[in-house]
Amino acid sequence: MRPRPGRAAGLGGALLAAALLSAGCGEQTPLSPSAERGRQVYLAQCVSCHGPEPGRDGPLGPAVKGASRELLEARVLRGTYPPGYTPKRPTRVMPPLPALAADIPALADYLR
Ligand code: HEC
Repeated sequence: MRPRPGRAAGLGGALLAAALLSAGCGEQTPLSPSAERGRQVYLAQCVSCHGPEPGRDGPLGPAVKGASRELLEARVLRGTYPPGYTPKRPTRVMPPLPALAADIPALADYLR
């Protein structure tokens, strides 16, 4: 999808351009402020293992696109999984990152 005209103005335009550039082929729709914040957190904290494209497996971690807020809270903050959730991997490689508690809603918005 292409960005709607009129959204690409001012600071938003700069962010949008950055988002589109880093997305590569410009397939992404403009992100909400919360999702954009989630993207920044993802790029800073998750990209090294999960890769730049959340919908694909990364160098170390599995694809995380569609991860729910419950899953993110359990996995990122506590290193666990929500009750009844079947993990994509049986391993325990990912370290808990409890300092990201305040960013879980933004991450969920970005990954949804
Ligand atoms: C050190 C590498 C590493 C980092 C950093 C990392 N992950 Fe992971 N992640 C993994 C690996 C590997 C798995 C697979 C399970 C395991 O071995 O822990 C995983 C599993 C997950 C899962 C569970 C997927 C599923 O459906 O079973 C989620 C969600 C997730 N990571 C999200 C994140 C988010 C969000 C961040 C950044 C805040 C992050 N991870 C940072 C390596 C990492």
